[in-house]
Amino acid sequence: MNEHPPTLGDGSPSNANGAITSAISARGVTKTYPATGKTPEVQALKSVDLTIPVGSFFGLLGPNGAGKSTLINILAGLVKKTDGSVAVWGHDIDSETRAARAAIGVVPQELNLDPFFTPSETMEFQAGLYGVPKSERRTAELLAAVRLTDQADAYARRLSGGMRRRLLLAKALAHQPPILVLDEPTAGVDVELRHQLWAYIRELNAGGVTVLLTTHYLEEAEALCDHVAIINHGEVIVHEPTAQLVAKLDRKVVTITLTDPQQVIPESLAQFDAELTSPQTLAVQYAPSQTAVGQVLDAVRQAGWTIADLTTEQSDLEEVFLALTSAKD
Ligand SMILES: Nc1ncnc2c1ncn2[C@@H]1O[C@H](COP(=O)(O)OP(=O)(O)OP(=O)(O)O)[C@@H](O)[C@H]1O
Ligand SMILES: [Mg+2]
Repeated sequence: MNEHPPTLGDGSPSNANGAITSAISARGVTKTYPATGKTPEVQALKSVDLTIPVGSFFGLLGPNGAGKSTLINILAGLVKKTDGSVAVWGHDIDSETRAARAAIGVVPQELNLDPFFTPSETMEFQAGLYGVPKSERRTAELLAAVRLTDQADAYARRLSGGMRRRLLLAKALAHQPPILVLDEPTAGVDVELRHQLWAYIRELNAGGVTVLLTTHYLEEAEALCDHVAIINHGEVIVHEPTAQLVAKLDRKVVTITLTDPQQVIPESLAQFDAELTSPQTLAVQYAPSQTAVGQVLDAVRQAGWTIADLTTEQSDLEEVFLALTSAKD
């Protein structure tokens, strides 16, 4: 969202020359969860490299079990990596653990709140943990920002799922970290609230906070993120600005129902990736940026075939994973 990194105060990550470097830098990060009596060893991350520019809105996309939470939890100091190195806001997570942790606020995937704390107490406790002086705490302001003012003194166990997620967001911001990490922030949040959350997170990003979020939804990443990485089976398979990735997704399928059964793909369709999936169903893949669907339809008519019906379909994330992973092999 921000073309240029915002001007930051003293806490900016900088190298020896004082130049700003990345908000998060992971190199060769590997995680192996050891085998237990019942489960085999799991290689959740395989030498992951990731660079998150200061001020960016970064999306980490991947299917279930890809390793997103594992990676995020390593960055946040919640899971211990097996190998590799990570710097958060310029601080190595092994040698400068406290400084690294202070630079990051995490909204976890699990709604892990103490049921006997109220939102106000939760916020105060969190600020206390990070040593934020009473005069600098922003409990009321943050609860208002996530629309929880009315629930400020209700026990967390009385909050709905969406309210809990919003409280977790406020909690992650209690120590005003320069990096905000959100693990599936909109899971279980209704559409209206999702848009409010997005708006608020965008505002934080516009104010200079570097945002990293994980999501299953390409749509969500497309709407919010200026950079996207795709992770699959513990490996980062794509890491680039969103616009470039979207260009890669330049693939549509038009499925045409024919009035008469056919056997052979005609000459006029030879230039397309066309297939008869049944005698009366023709599926044609094309790149919308290069080919208009009208050209495909013209080619079908040119063959003398008549179209009874048609549907088009954009490639979804699952297909993209497949396309990208098989392209790499
Ligand atoms: N504490 C753990 N012990 C053993 N294996 C684990 C543990 N946590 C995660 N895993 C395994 O590591 C792999 C990656 O899991 P992870 O939770 O990082 O994926 P994810 O991308 O966040 O998935 P989701 O989209 O479902 O949240 C999976 O195979 C998972 O079963
Ligand atoms: Mg996860």
